[in-house]
Amino acid sequence: MSELLLTGISQLVTAEGSSARRGAEMSKLRIVTGAAIAIDGGRISWMGREQDWNGFAVEVVDVGQRAVLPGLIDPHTHAVWAGDRLGDFEARAAGATYEDILASGGGIWHTIRETAGRSCEEMAATALPRIEALARSGATTVEVKSGYGYSVEAELRMLRTIRRMAGQTRVRIVPTLLIHICPQDEAERVALRDAVCGELIPEVAREGLARAVDIFVEQHAWSSTDARMILTCAKAHGLAIKLHTEQFQNVGGLELGLELGALSVDHLEACTEVQCRAVGESTTIATILPGVSLHLGLPAAPGRRLVEAGAAVAIGTDLNPGSSPLFSTSAAMGLAVRMNGLNALEALAACTINAAAALGLSDAGRLEAGCVADLLVLASDDWRDLAYAMGHSVVRDVWVGGRRLEL
Ligand code: NIG
Ligand code: FE
Repeated sequence: MSELLLTGISQLVTAEGSSARRGAEMSKLRIVTGAAIAIDGGRISWMGREQDWNGFAVEVVDVGQRAVLPGLIDPHTHAVWAGDRLGDFEARAAGATYEDILASGGGIWHTIRETAGRSCEEMAATALPRIEALARSGATTVEVKSGYGYSVEAELRMLRTIRRMAGQTRVRIVPTLLIHICPQDEAERVALRDAVCGELIPEVAREGLARAVDIFVEQHAWSSTDARMILTCAKAHGLAIKLHTEQFQNVGGLELGLELGALSVDHLEACTEVQCRAVGESTTIATILPGVSLHLGLPAAPGRRLVEAGAAVAIGTDLNPGSSPLFSTSAAMGLAVRMNGLNALEALAACTINAAAALGLSDAGRLEAGCVADLLVLASDDWRDLAYAMGHSVVRDVWVGGRRLEL
């Protein structure tokens, strides 16, 4: 006997298996027509053709001949920030570049000045509606990074904010410590690096404030030499690692990430053909962020080439005020089809099972017995509408742990 049975599912589309889908495997998803899902204790206990169900359910919910998909997983956001970057938006429209603004002390530095002194309450109050917007777009799990704190104390406060938020929403939140921007002054750079390795990472590990440490490796951010020290320290404290890399320049971040066994390398707008092949030969997930290419006018990351090279590609919004004010995970999926050359099945794998793998999760991002019952009911009977519709969400209902979210 099951607690709950969902029936009337026109199409159920899901990846299968507990590991990331790579290369050609990304488009081999299972499509079940006329499906049903049984749920017990917040997890899927059975899934298949409705006509094959021969159990008994306490409650039956008929979704009305609509498509059902796994809840989307957004593996890369900076959803906690204060202030805005409307000035940057105007300056860029007038010809300034993102890198110019950053190099002159604006951009990310501006958001740090706005955010670092805020209390946990203030930060959570502005960030939670952003998480809810992502949920309305279909995200049931959202990674949230720190990174606008800069000092040890302010980064810890950001991570404690993210922990507080996790207790205030049913959306699953996965916290990441981001070592974002690097002081230009040499002595300050060394001092910050030492504080990160000597104080911040040990405290984050001790309090369980993050699952992974991410670092921005770029000409105007951290060098791959400093990143090696910081990421090696993270690993020694039992934390997974990730990198913001190959966004503008190739300064060794991608190769470092692959060498150190990063969970994911993210951005990749400047990723070369040789680098695509290297990612394809690794177990690291390639997380692409089409909202950044759209908002900053950067080349789109070579999603198609990464798939052809055998890589496991994931997609994120990169929700942040400077490079990607994109409040929709399903829109990121649709942009990856249009801008990065993925087909709809690949994009769905990239937003579900592969995004889960980019966060080190193996029981989410797919609808199979034993997995969390996080799923979407679309307003459409055809799942492809999720990537197709623009400026309008076709997500009708969002379920987390077998319960519908009030959105
Ligand atoms: O993922 N590139 C570095 N970090 C963020 C942007 C943060 C910001 O501009 O505030 C990113 O693009
Ligand atoms: Fe980012």
